[in-house]
Order: sequence, then C-alpha cells, then structure tokens
Amino acid sequence: MCKCSFVLAACLTVACLAAATSAQEYVDDPGVPDDAALSARSAEPSMIFDTSGIVVNPGEPLNLDCGLNGEIRYCIWMHGDDIYQVQDVYSNVYGGLREPENKENNQCGIVVDSVNIEQHGEWKCTVFVPGNSLSKSKNVVVTIQPTRPIIEIDTSPLEVDTTEDNTIVCSVAAARPAVGMKWYLGNEDITKMSEKVETLTDDQGTYKSVSTLTRRFDPKDDEKTLMCSITHKTLPTGANTSVPVRVMFKPIEKDTTTFYQIQLGSNYEVKFNFSSNPKPDDVMWKFGDNLENPEGSLVIPEARGRYRTYLEELGNNMYTAKLLIEEFTLDDSNKMYSLLVQNVIGETEYQIRLSVHEPPIDGVSETSNHAKIPPTELSVSEFETESNNLSGGAIAGIIIVVVVVVVAIGAAGYARYRQMFCFASRAESKAHIQDPERNETDNGTANDAIKASTDHVNGKTENTVANGNGNLEQTQVDEVNNEKKNTDV
Ligand SMILES: *[C@@H]1O[C@H](CO)[C@@H](O)[C@H](O)[C@H]1NC(C)=O
Repeated sequence: MCKCSFVLAACLTVACLAAATSAQEYVDDPGVPDDAALSARSAEPSMIFDTSGIVVNPGEPLNLDCGLNGEIRYCIWMHGDDIYQVQDVYSNVYGGLREPENKENNQCGIVVDSVNIEQHGEWKCTVFVPGNSLSKSKNVVVTIQPTRPIIEIDTSPLEVDTTEDNTIVCSVAAARPAVGMKWYLGNEDITKMSEKVETLTDDQGTYKSVSTLTRRFDPKDDEKTLMCSITHKTLPTGANTSVPVRVMFKPIEKDTTTFYQIQLGSNYEVKFNFSSNPKPDDVMWKFGDNLENPEGSLVIPEARGRYRTYLEELGNNMYTAKLLIEEFTLDDSNKMYSLLVQNVIGETEYQIRLSVHEPPIDGVSETSNHAKIPPTELSVSEFETESNNLSGGAIAGIIIVVVVVVVAIGAAGYARYRQMFCFASRAESKAHIQDPERNETDNGTANDAIKASTDHVNGKTENTVANGNGNLEQTQVDEVNNEKKNTDV
C-alpha cells in the first residue's frame, strides 16, 4: 500500500514535468497563440528587432527601430563609444536624432535625420527590463560613392584576335559597399564569362572590386563596344566605361563554292566573296587539274593570257576576289580553282568550281549567273565532262542512262507529236522556276505562237531542235540532268 502510493506520487510528478515542458515548447512557437504561451511571453520579455544590415547614403534619414514585448524601464543605443539614452533623444538632447512617428512595437526606436559617414557601422539597442537587460544590434553601411571603373588595357581600341582567349580586367578602386559589375559587348550581357573578386581595403567596409572577363572573340564582334558597367546605391543610373574592340581574324573558311550555268565562249568573271581582318596581304588564284601542282597561278592584281584578276574591297571586312576568264571553254570548266588568301593572322585556301551545268535543284548554290546554255553543246558535254572522272561501273551506268535517255527523247518526241500543248506548258513552267531571265523571252504570246509553229518541225530535224525553240531543248536537257543525277546518287 505504502509502496504503491510512492509509485503513484512518482508518476504524478513525471506527468506534471511533462506538462510543464510541453507548455514551455509552445512559447517558442509563435504560430500558436494559446493562453500558456501568452502568459509565458509576458513573463519573459523579448525584443522586436530586425538584425539584418541596412545600406544608406549620406544625407538620407536612417530609422533605427527597436521594440519590446513587455514592460520597459528604459533603453539606450550605442554606436562605437557613443551612448544615446532614448529618453534624451526624445527630449531632443542630441542634434540630428529624434523620436520616430510610429512607436508601435518600436518603443525604443530613434531616427537619424541625415546620416553622415561617421555613423557607419554597428548600432546596438539595449533595453532594460525589471531585473534584466536585452540587446540586439544591426550593421549600418553608410555608402561611399565608388571611384570610376577602369578597363585596364594598354591601347584603345582593344585589339584582339580569334585564335586565343583574351583576358580583360575592369576595376573599381574603392566603394562602400562593394559595387555590382557587369560586362556588355554591344547589347549582349556577357557577365557570365567574368569573375569578380572583392577585397576589403580598410576596417571601415571599403572594397576594391576587380572583374576579370575571359572571352574568345568572334569575327562578328569586330567594331563592337566592350563595356564595364557598375551598379551602386549611390549611383541611380550606374556608371560605366567602354572601349571599342577590333577583332583580327584569318580569312574565314567556307565550303567549296560552285558557280553554275557558265556560258561557253563567254568572258566569264568569277566573283568570290570572303571576309578577312586585317586586309589580306596576299590573294592568289590557282587553277589546274591538280591544285597541289597548279598549271597556273596569279597573284591579284596580276593578268596573264586569258586571265585577269582583281580585288574589290566592300567594307565591313568583306572582299570580292575576281577572276575574269576570257572565252570560257569546256576545258576551263573541268579544272579546279582555288583562292589562297593570307593576312597577318593566318591563311585560308578556298575551293572553287566552275560549272556549265544548272545548279542542283535542292542544292544551295551560292552563286548562279543564269547564263543561257547552248543546248546542243550541253547535251554532248554532259557526258564527256562526267565520264572523265568516272569509274568503269559508273560508265556502264551512264551507258544505260544514255539508252534510257534516247528512249525518253524518242518517247518525248512522240508524246509531243501527239499532245503538244500539254507538253509545252510543262516546259514553260519549268523554265520559269529555273531561270527567270530566260523566262522573260519565253513568256510572251508571240513566243507561244512561234513555238506552236515550230513544234512540228522540231520532231523531224535535229537542227531546229538545237536552235529554234528554247523550251523543248531545255526540257530535254533537264531530263538528261535528272537521269544523270539519279545514277550518281
Ligand atoms: C558578294 O558581295 C556583294 C556585295 O555585298 C553582293 O552583292 C553579292 O551578292 C555577294 N555575292 C555572293 C555570291 O554572296
């Protein structure tokens, strides 16, 4: 019995302790305003204080807020060695310090009317309550306007080349707090290619900031402006410094360029565009069956035999190299051509081909001079040209194609004989797509009439096929082209 009541008493004690502990826990949780918590709070006062730092410009007002849940005896603020009794501040004892308008949860708050540099640093509010005192502090940064940003380069404009990474430094010697820094190239924000280091230069919160940009410049960056831009609380619109950029690059590489539809017998001028900065020192045309061992080379502006060369400067680092070939021959079209361009950064050899053919339908040809093709010569040259470079298998393929083409031409002639208008209109639409220049002459009703009148003759004599009607020959040539392409693939 006695033993049992002891156990009971022990259990009650433990239960009471547990209850007390849980009540205590509620005090820490501001989300639960139950009676136990409120009574605990009034019993144990706590400060209402934001400890986060504040940045203020000289001359601006500074609100130093400090409040308490509970009964206050009196309170003071401390800054460095100075002590300000809040009661005295409210009685206007200290010039420049005054009572705040809103004292709710801010019973010990004071206002600095116009901050000065000396007021930079830590401010501590101490509240005296019955039997105790509570303190909290915050850091006040009184700004110092940054020095001018400087891009540390030897020369302006900044000269860079595309072969290596460039490192460019922008610095601000002093600012409080540290400045924000950004880099722009033209309108593009390239800050993510930079790294910023801030160094404290004294014990007063003054920083030196250095941002290092690492970038490989691109030919298209030439003539852009590189800007180092800073932001700071003291600068409503920021500040910046900039430098123009000159980007040097070797002549920009290009895929092989083919010029199409060159008219045999004409004086043909190859006009090849390329980009280089600085201006090329040497531009040389080469041609032959094998460019390792060219049959001819001309350094612009050299002229020799049937060849003339020129260089035209277009501006924006663009140039046109010209090669005029007099009386263009089939042989000329079978040669390889290259343009070797050299500047101080490097050299590039461009591959160029000259073709009497039409450009491939789906291919993207860079240049096409829309020359009229002499029809009969073309259909012959077509096979000569191609067979020069072809293996036995391919030649066999071509022979088959020739047979097919002969049959096709025969069939076409027959079809044309039977359904001439149907056929003619198809030819016309094709010419329209491929050659706007020629189309001009083919479109008129007069031409239609001529076509109609010659159609009968075409079917019978070779001569008229060659010279009379542009549409028919063009169509036949197209069919030859298409057949050939299919076998090539
Ligand atoms: C070469 O440049 C000139 C001038 O900008 C331009 O008119 C021409 O179309 C260009 N040629 C090619 C093949 O892009």
